[in-house]
Amino acid sequence: MPKPRKIAINTGGGDAPGLNAVIRAATLAALERGWEVWGIRHGYRGLIDPSANGLFQLDRDRVRGIVHLGGTILGTANRGDPFNYPTLVPDAAEPAGALGDPPPSLGHGLVPVDRSDELVRRFRELGFDALIAVGGDGSMRIANDLRARGLPCVIGVPKTIDNDVCATDLTFGFDTAVWIATEAIDRVHTTAEAHERIMVVEVMGRQAGWIALSSGVAGTADVILLPEIPFRYEPIVEKIRQREARGRHFSIVVVAEGTAPAGGDITVKEEGDKFRRVVVLGGVAERVAKELAARTGKEARSIVLGHLQRGGGPTTSDRLLALRFGAAAVRFLADGAGSGMVALRNGRIELATLEEVAGKTKRVPVDSDTVITAREMGICFGDEPPGHFVAT
Ligand code: F6P
Repeated sequence: MPKPRKIAINTGGGDAPGLNAVIRAATLAALERGWEVWGIRHGYRGLIDPSANGLFQLDRDRVRGIVHLGGTILGTANRGDPFNYPTLVPDAAEPAGALGDPPPSLGHGLVPVDRSDELVRRFRELGFDALIAVGGDGSMRIANDLRARGLPCVIGVPKTIDNDVCATDLTFGFDTAVWIATEAIDRVHTTAEAHERIMVVEVMGRQAGWIALSSGVAGTADVILLPEIPFRYEPIVEKIRQREARGRHFSIVVVAEGTAPAGGDITVKEEGDKFRRVVVLGGVAERVAKELAARTGKEARSIVLGHLQRGGGPTTSDRLLALRFGAAAVRFLADGAGSGMVALRNGRIELATLEEVAGKTKRVPVDSDTVITAREMGICFGDEPPGHFVAT
């Protein structure tokens, strides 16, 4: 691949602390090579929607003083898949298989339309040589499909607080989310102890339990419930009773939003719609708290940390990882490495193929060292056999 001269960068999906650091590092690394860098607003909206005024050139001034800021100066979108793009088509018939109406804020009369060819054409007409697509697994799938449609070159940068992107040991945003969740669990401890209650803390993560596991272990939770380990209530009740017997009249349960009881369903807050087919999860903590209160006779409260885990600036680790990812994306382009996703593997930055990542989810291995550590410390995952917890 010839060296790019003009590149674009976008941020897609849910935001994560560190997006602005990627934008800064990629921009500076490209400017240092004498390239032009453009930002696309709100995922692909800035390229598809001509009224969106959605492209702007990134220079040193635009990326100054943003590394510590949360959010993204480019904006993002989770209903902007170019293959399924919300488009106003007068008198259009509803396409078969549509899941339902979008939320009112999106306006009615919009239907999903494949705008990918138009997008690729515009990208080429504007003279772009490559796209740096910062996003999660959904964004990597889109990037891979756009490349197949003729986008010259795409380098993905793995972002998400969920840490569920395959082929990379870490995504940026995760460390910040874990830090916030751990801090919250610490705070919940004191009020739980004061009132002798069970407190159930729900954290994000979709179908992966990375945030719950890391914050639960670091925050010394008594019970951690993960999507990867379907739980039963009996071991949790046994664990709480054992604590009572030891004079510990409170218990902290950390539950990942995508967790389901064995043989039961996940708790869905909002169904998908025709532009965003994934469901919005939420509410499992409330269900768990009610059930534990009924089974133990103790007071139980639930708390959902929600978007607090995504808001605000990145931790130092996330800043550094995001800066490394951003600079590496440009380095891979300069080296002519072709399309792929920047990945952290055993401490080194490498280029993974988009196929390794697209449409896949990295889940917590149930035999991971952190799970074993937790089990060895007596933390309950809700899958233990009767009599498992030693009363000492
Ligand atoms: O993927 C990041 C994430 O925060 C998930 O943990 C969560 O399930 C989802 O996004 C929430 O999406 P939204 O911001 O659309 O509510």
